[in-house]
Amino acid sequence: MPVPDGFARRLLPVLEDVAAAYGTPFHVYDAQGITDTYRGMVDAFRGEPFREYFAVKALPNPHVLALLLGEGSGLDCASPVELQIAEQLGATGDDVVFTSNNTAPAEYELALKAGALITFDDRSLLDRAETLPDVVAFRVSPHGLAAGSALMGDATRTKFGVPVDRLPDAYREARRRGATRFGLHGMACANELDMDRAIQAAVAVVELAAHLTATTGVEFEYVNVGGGLGIPYRPDDRPLDFRVYADAILAARRRSFPGRQGPRILMECGRYVTGPHGVLVTTVINRASKAREIVGLDASMSALMRPGFYGAYHHLTLPFATGRPEGRYDVVGALCENMDKFAVERPLPEPREGDLAVIHDTGAHGHAMGFTYNGRLRPAELLLTADGDVVEIRRAEELGDYLATVRPQPRPVLSATPRAARHHDEHGNQGE
Ligand SMILES: Cc1ncc(COP(=O)(O)O)c(C=O)c1O
Repeated sequence: MPVPDGFARRLLPVLEDVAAAYGTPFHVYDAQGITDTYRGMVDAFRGEPFREYFAVKALPNPHVLALLLGEGSGLDCASPVELQIAEQLGATGDDVVFTSNNTAPAEYELALKAGALITFDDRSLLDRAETLPDVVAFRVSPHGLAAGSALMGDATRTKFGVPVDRLPDAYREARRRGATRFGLHGMACANELDMDRAIQAAVAVVELAAHLTATTGVEFEYVNVGGGLGIPYRPDDRPLDFRVYADAILAARRRSFPGRQGPRILMECGRYVTGPHGVLVTTVINRASKAREIVGLDASMSALMRPGFYGAYHHLTLPFATGRPEGRYDVVGALCENMDKFAVERPLPEPREGDLAVIHDTGAHGHAMGFTYNGRLRPAELLLTADGDVVEIRRAEELGDYLATVRPQPRPVLSATPRAARHHDEHGNQGE
């Protein structure tokens, strides 16, 4: 959808100057919009025990993470690199949740050392852990938990979480091994914009916690209802009302834990917090008339993978081309892949070379999902600060970055000479 009003008001008056001075393409994020959204989430929980752990994977730029940490957010990490970034930012202990899957032992050790709130994605990971974390939490499989979102795929084939009927045994085993503090994690949404489904998914986790307490005696310190809240990518999508969502969760907690406070509510939203507050600013560099009308931008799918990869809709505007006749255009990047299209048959005012083209809602899973195929390197990230300054928070990648991991001299890994000699020995021919 068109960027939020405040962001447009703050960005559009300076956009041409920034593009002229800095060059395109770049992602630019709106600090004010991000903090307003975060504060809105906290306010919606009305002082009840709640904490948002921003999903680092959505926008792993340390400047944005520092902004959110400064507001009181925690960080949700899913990999060693994300844990290391959190540590560099001074986030340790229960400022961090570690919700990974297919977790390697060394990754678990790193999260344990950081004192993070660790979510076990499978019982086998608990069985393998020599030292348990202070708080033991399992992720419940989305299958059987709630309706689930279309974007989560077929929940019966999920790789995530512990099947609900195996959770009691998992918690009993943790308790047998000395655990005394517990959490529960469940996330059955992905980019969910249907309020009823989003509520149903979160409420199911709260109710499951109460059920597990009743059947196993395990008391939960927290229930983490995950991320996955949607944002309105399309102009006719309606945003979620986070207050209604929070109220439904609080009501479910009161119902499920009568006479008690019940567990603290945690969330690990990424997209909801930063998604609408970023745009990818590009320039039209080519026009061509083929089977379709083609508009070539100076950015490629390597800067924003979602449209090409999933067919995801990102709104696209030419903010300084109003009044021109409208047509339908395929808006493309320069990768040698036909899927490298930001928009297909999109109605737009007639684009001309040199026009600025703005791709909306790139504040989450945008730059972060970028890649470098074809040597099309990832663009810069800028931040529009609350004071109205525009600052560079990550430069564009250059040839040196692309080649940084190449060894100037090949490094020996395995020498063919002894192998050849062994081969001869085994066949009884020549030896050394
Ligand atoms: C476990 C977990 N938590 C949180 C998130 C963040 O999701 P979103 O950015 O859609 O809120 C994801 C997304 O992949 C996830 O897998």
